[in-house]
Amino acid sequence: AAVYPFYGEHQSGITTAAQDRLHFASFDVDGSDRSELISLLKDWTAAAAQMTAGKTVGTGAVGGPLDAPADDTGEALDLPPSGLTITFGFGPSLFDGRFGLAGKRPTELIDLPHFAGDALEAALSGGDLCIQACSDDPQVAVHAIRNLSRIAFGRASIRWSQLGFGRTSSTTRDQVTPRNLFGFKDGTANVKAEDTTQVDEHVWVPRGDSASWMTGGSYLVARKIRMLIEPWDRTSLREQERVIGRNKGEGAPLSGGKEFTEPDFHAKALGSTLIDRDAHVRLAHPDQNKGALLLRRGYNFVDGNDDLGRLNAGLFFIAFQRDPASQFVRVQQSLAGHDALNEYIRHVGSGIFAVPPGAKPGSYVGAELF
Ligand code: HEM
Repeated sequence: AAVYPFYGEHQSGITTAAQDRLHFASFDVDGSDRSELISLLKDWTAAAAQMTAGKTVGTGAVGGPLDAPADDTGEALDLPPSGLTITFGFGPSLFDGRFGLAGKRPTELIDLPHFAGDALEAALSGGDLCIQACSDDPQVAVHAIRNLSRIAFGRASIRWSQLGFGRTSSTTRDQVTPRNLFGFKDGTANVKAEDTTQVDEHVWVPRGDSASWMTGGSYLVARKIRMLIEPWDRTSLREQERVIGRNKGEGAPLSGGKEFTEPDFHAKALGSTLIDRDAHVRLAHPDQNKGALLLRRGYNFVDGNDDLGRLNAGLFFIAFQRDPASQFVRVQQSLAGHDALNEYIRHVGSGIFAVPPGAKPGSYVGAELF
């Protein structure tokens, strides 16, 4: 089973081969005490380093005094680390002046604009801090978020959170492309860890961007996207493939070839292009978006059902990038207008976070900011 080090140049959970499960949480910080915020980040760092190594938090779950609650909640005892990664981020509201950080907000950490069709709910959006926990075992991911939120008690509390199962992208070349809840392969044309030139150019913040404390970091955009799967399931296969622009069986572009063949957006038959002008892959492709690339790392979700008996299902979209304005926003603006997929999806939650570089041993995550 995989073990990923917590300390390093970059935080793990970005170019790490996407694990199968997600527990994501967004937090609001209580109060406005800067030193409390720093002590929280130190405590989170220590606990994250323990848990990613497969150890319990603090003095453990058992073996301590019987008359006090233990440091660790215990449900990951006996479980291997299962590829656990814990990735921390800072939301725009952390820089609103409460903590004396107003002058440190990176210009890249924009407030996301309103996009056509957005149906965002405040209760599923925003947050001062975020934690992305990914693992191949759902219990290990949940244990991580649970213990980190317990450590935060009195200092920060969960604003919203999301469980995800089934990764919807590959982030390394040797992973098999998984499928999303529309039944299509997702993550074929993703930025992959092996594409180091693309990763350096489009994912990691280089020295010289607006905030030097972000060097080696990245920006995370999360979107909770409800998928209207019942109408989708009544749609013909031909229409589904037209909407995506790839075939459902293999994930090959409708212009021909195999899964990893580059789509040919000009190829025509009977006078019309083989890949529809409103197909998702056409509008999301870098050619349509001034070369914008994203490292997508989303997950499927099913949160029970709504009161009409429809599954409350969708894609918890996560993308990492160096500059959200020229990457996520540019792509989403092109999708929001025309994407044939819009008839079957609804964006209901949103968050943007500055993900600082990896913590150095002996230090803590985000130390460069303070
Ligand atoms: C590609 C599904 C939302 C950006 C794809 C593909 C599928 C898909 C099936 C083709 C396989 C692949 O290359 O990964 C979906 C579904 C969505 C969704 C079901 C919503 C529920 C988004 C959003 C964005 C996005 C919100 C970004 C704003 C992309 C990009 C590609 C892609 C950049 C690759 C395009 C290329 O270079 O060929 N998506 N997607 N998708 N999607 Fe999405």
